[in-house]
Amino acid sequence: MSQYPGTAEPLLRRATLTGLGHYLPRNIVSNADLSQRVDTSDEWITERTGIRQRHFASPDETAGFMAAQAAREALKAAGVEAQALDAIILATSTPDQAFPATAVHVQAALGAKRAFGFDISAACSGFIFGLSVADSMIRSGQVNNVLVIGSEVYSRILNFEDRGTCVLFGDGAGAALLQARDVPRSGPGILSTHLHSDGTLADILYVDGAVGQRDKSGFLVMNGREVFRHAVNLLASAVNEALLAHDLTAKDIDWLVPHQANRRIIDGVGKKLGLPPERVVITVDAHANTSAASIPLALWQAVNDGRIKAGQLILLEALGGGLTWGSALLRL
Ligand code: COA
Repeated sequence: MSQYPGTAEPLLRRATLTGLGHYLPRNIVSNADLSQRVDTSDEWITERTGIRQRHFASPDETAGFMAAQAAREALKAAGVEAQALDAIILATSTPDQAFPATAVHVQAALGAKRAFGFDISAACSGFIFGLSVADSMIRSGQVNNVLVIGSEVYSRILNFEDRGTCVLFGDGAGAALLQARDVPRSGPGILSTHLHSDGTLADILYVDGAVGQRDKSGFLVMNGREVFRHAVNLLASAVNEALLAHDLTAKDIDWLVPHQANRRIIDGVGKKLGLPPERVVITVDAHANTSAASIPLALWQAVNDGRIKAGQLILLEALGGGLTWGSALLRL
């Protein structure tokens, strides 16, 4: 039955965001703590990145464990039982195992017997890629209730001999429950997603090796200057693509919730779009770059502290190793 009795408009089947959850590891590491271990300073990190602290996972806090915790919170927030889930899509570059997918461990932990689960590997853009897949599956009628989770333990792939990268990342998980709803055009839900990759830039941000290449270090490697150079332009173009698709301008957007890599990248994109800083959600100071988890963590934060409200128009954007990048426009 329609939730919108009396509406004259035809209703559209949309993926609506009905619950958010988060998990942050117990161990908080400040810049000052890190400078005991690495040749760096609070001043350098804060000035170049806006990061003041990050959470580092303990051995028991795996990507799967943190994802399940975040997922439970998202389900609780929506008042939905795990048995109602049709799918669990988990974005991570730091899975518990090469296979099975970490998503199936989450499925088991939740007791989500009916759900299928799989992982997405799109580095820091993983949550937006996951949203896009969930949106398509919901619109097509294949599923009704989907968890999209980003969960990362980058502390396990950081080279603490490389001060140019190890100060930038943190661990954590964020989860979003998407549910099919029939809504009018002006109603809630994902309006569109826009995904991109450029594999010719794979060598500016990557993890050196995997289970198929055991002779490599397994550490994250980055050419920070090159990533920075591409990030602002590609992110602004992904955001513009989303706006153009709906004949909107930046003025119509209530909140930009960007991937939290670096304060200077976030400010650069905001400036390019003419978005005032009061409409941009920032959590990089407290979480650092948690890769695929950063957007759902930032969303969770801003919804829970009352900044983001029902009915508002929200633009998400991310860029990461691949390069991969993209945007998503949704109404809460
Ligand atoms: N503490 C202190 N000094 C550091 C340091 C640290 N953690 N890391 C690097 N430095 C030093 C360098 O050794 C260099 O010193 P030198 O001039 O004596 O050689 C100096 O700082 C400048 O290094 P550089 O790498 O050129 O700095 P930068 O201004 O490019 O800033 C980043 C480095 C990583 C902050 C910046 O390039 C960046 O933000 N890139 C984007 C990274 C990102 O967000 N990636 C994730 C995308 S998903």
